[in-house]
Amino acid sequence: MNKMPLLAVKDLKVSFSVLRGLEQAYVQAVRGVSFELERGGILGIVGESGSGKSVTTQAIPALLPKSAKVSGSVRYEGKELTGLDTESLRGYRGKKIGMIYQEPGRSYDPLQNMESVFLETLRNSDPAISREASAAKAAALLKEVGLDNGRERLSNFPHQFSGGQLQRIGIALALAQSCELLIADEPTTALDVTIQKQIVDLLKSLRKTRQISIIFISHDIDLVADISDRIMVMYGGLVMEAANSPVIAAEAQHPYTRALLQASPRFGSHYSRERLIPIPGKVTDPAGPEPGCPFAPRCARSQAECAQEVPELRIIEGNAGHGFTDSKGIDSDTIETGRPDNQETPHEIRCVLFKQAGLKT
Ligand SMILES: Nc1ncnc2c1ncn2[C@@H]1O[C@H](COP(=O)(O)OP(=O)(O)OP(=O)(O)O)[C@@H](O)[C@H]1O
Ligand code: SF4
Ligand SMILES: [Mg+2]
Repeated sequence: MNKMPLLAVKDLKVSFSVLRGLEQAYVQAVRGVSFELERGGILGIVGESGSGKSVTTQAIPALLPKSAKVSGSVRYEGKELTGLDTESLRGYRGKKIGMIYQEPGRSYDPLQNMESVFLETLRNSDPAISREASAAKAAALLKEVGLDNGRERLSNFPHQFSGGQLQRIGIALALAQSCELLIADEPTTALDVTIQKQIVDLLKSLRKTRQISIIFISHDIDLVADISDRIMVMYGGLVMEAANSPVIAAEAQHPYTRALLQASPRFGSHYSRERLIPIPGKVTDPAGPEPGCPFAPRCARSQAECAQEVPELRIIEGNAGHGFTDSKGIDSDTIETGRPDNQETPHEIRCVLFKQAGLKT
């Protein structure tokens, strides 16, 4: 069995030099993020606005503006992508790595019908494809993503589709170039809950039928837990906690993850007396990050030590007397992965509370 992950991101750092008034500011958007994603896996990234979720994923196919200073490593099937020239990156962007975004309507030219959109996309990989063959392929892709009458609908323009339908078309366009990794940056935020669920179910089924890997970004930690095998919680450009989704949902240890869970409405919670607890204070400013834990000014458990230096990301090894649970005991079959999961999936946490608690670095 090939153990090489599809994607391996190591110590990714991204900063921007920007003007704030007359002052030059240095925005540390991503401050050393590492993760791996295997073929067919789904990684969820969650965190408040400005945590660095989009910048992290835009760095993968090198889609950041020229003003971005990027360091670290992004390996796709073992090949380093950082530093590749535009021509070489073309072989990855769209083709191996597809992206869908929050507002699908904005991604389309209002004057271009879908037949022409698909033709343009399909000609990226197959310049000789005929109009007829493109339309047939497009109709099949639309059927695969759950849009009926695909052939007839190809003559329609973007405004003739609903938001959910446009998101399905966006997924079909990503599949048109046989993408192996789909980066879905808040693909459901602009949709109502019923359509949200349909899109999530579609993505789950595509990873089974096509073995595609997905990075799913959202503010909604419950939604992310529903679709992902593993969740990475980000704040202030740093990973605060990362573990298998059931572990995050049931046994999150980091104060920030817990705060996100307590602030997140659950289905049916409006019928109960359960109160949502908003996270106090303002989100950290990446242009002037705290010297220590970026969550310290908002954390109820903050100690003097928290403000001294950024805590290291550590791995929880087992129950160390603080109510920890060993994440290795989690039964992965409870997640609908469609693949065997016999890989070790560590529970990582960045918090000084856990420094003396038998964690390994
Ligand atoms: N091109 C840019 N120039 C300067 N700063 C940027 C640029 N792109 C992003 N940033 C800053 O980097 C930080 C991280 O941005 P990012 O878009 O990754 O956040 P996010 O977690 O995706 O937030 P949201 O949930 O609102 O989408 C933010 O403070 C943002 O303002
Ligand atoms: S390191 Fe300190 S401030 Fe940060 S989350 Fe842990 S307890 Fe809170
Ligand atoms: Mg974003």
